[in-house]
Amino acid sequence: MMKILVTGNMGYIGPGVVSHLRACYPDAELIGLDMGYFANCLTNAQILPECRVDIQHFADVRKFSPHWLEGVDAVIHLAAISNDPMGKKFEEVTFAVNYRASVELAKAAKKAGVKSFVFASSCSMYGAAEDVARTEQSPLNPLTAYAKSKVFTEKELAPLADGNFSVTSLRFSTACGMSDRLRLDLVLNDFVAGAISSKTITILSDGKPWRPLINVKDMALAIEWAISRNSDNGGKFLAVNVGSDQWNYQVKDLALAVARIVPGVKVSINENAEPDKRSYKVDFGLFKRLAPHHQPRLDLPATINELKDGLEGMGFADRDFRNSKFMRLKVLTHLSERKILNSELEWS
Ligand SMILES: NC(=O)c1ccc[n+]([C@@H]2O[C@H](COP(=O)([O-])OP(=O)(O)OC[C@H]3O[C@@H](n4cnc5c(N)ncnc54)[C@H](O)[C@@H]3O)[C@@H](O)[C@H]2O)c1
Repeated sequence: MMKILVTGNMGYIGPGVVSHLRACYPDAELIGLDMGYFANCLTNAQILPECRVDIQHFADVRKFSPHWLEGVDAVIHLAAISNDPMGKKFEEVTFAVNYRASVELAKAAKKAGVKSFVFASSCSMYGAAEDVARTEQSPLNPLTAYAKSKVFTEKELAPLADGNFSVTSLRFSTACGMSDRLRLDLVLNDFVAGAISSKTITILSDGKPWRPLINVKDMALAIEWAISRNSDNGGKFLAVNVGSDQWNYQVKDLALAVARIVPGVKVSINENAEPDKRSYKVDFGLFKRLAPHHQPRLDLPATINELKDGLEGMGFADRDFRNSKFMRLKVLTHLSERKILNSELEWS
């Protein structure tokens, strides 16, 4: 029986990954591991998403315990401080969790006989890269603590891989779409939330940055491929861009696509905004070659409709959602200002 550990399973991407694994491997033992920072940021989930795992550890990846890995075949490592604004405010914690703890977990996994380690990396490591689409061979240019944490981790994961321990670093596009633990601090999700709650999409930049996107369900598909690939398909260590060439969009085009689907929406662009350096086009050719049967299936209109239906189903009407529990930074700030989390973001 396959045994799979999913760290960070109680975030935005995790619930969909667990549901997908449950469907693909009905007999597998699924184990979740999470601090639970965003445990109560649920949408209109029918059941608590953690009911789909066999064991849930409420634990900190920085405080490794060998029993987490006993008999485990595959580790899917999602746990992280997961965006630039949080990385700016909690920089040290970002390096401790996203980088040092990730490398320690991979070393321990190898020692424990785990066969496959999948790391949730990010295309944001290409930084300012809007001239030509970046391939996996392109130079990296991480502009933020978050992006640097992913680069440092990948570098140390690569030499750990061998014939018995395959490591796949999935350099994901920016996620979008509905989840049991929705985030609205992601560009497309923010636009649909604005369109539904106030019939207004406020673009904070000049709208020109390029951003590749992927639906969360298609991330789960890529993860399924990564845990089962063998080293003939991509090598013992593989870093691969995950998304599709059709999903390289400029931010303003995302807003216009939402306005075409949600009636009566006004789009406001901040023409005076400082240029956003985090603009990148990405080449997904390698992923297409290696994983032809696990390519993204959902397109932009389908994802906008999915978000619209999900938010309407929740009765979503919060015009002030940028200050709500669906913003990861707001939740961590709230918990740390009230000293519920200490400066290391440990439960106090
Ligand atoms: N969302 C995106 O657009 C995107 C894009 C590329 C890569 N990724 C990566 O995918 C992963 C998941 O992203 P997400 O959007 O679900 O983020 P999220 O913030 O919603 O979830 C991250 C989860 O990790 C947990 N966590 C944080 N620190 C922990 C610790 N010390 N110990 C145990 N658990 C801890 C949190 O409680 C949370 O449930 C992250 O590694 C992220 O960097 C996300």
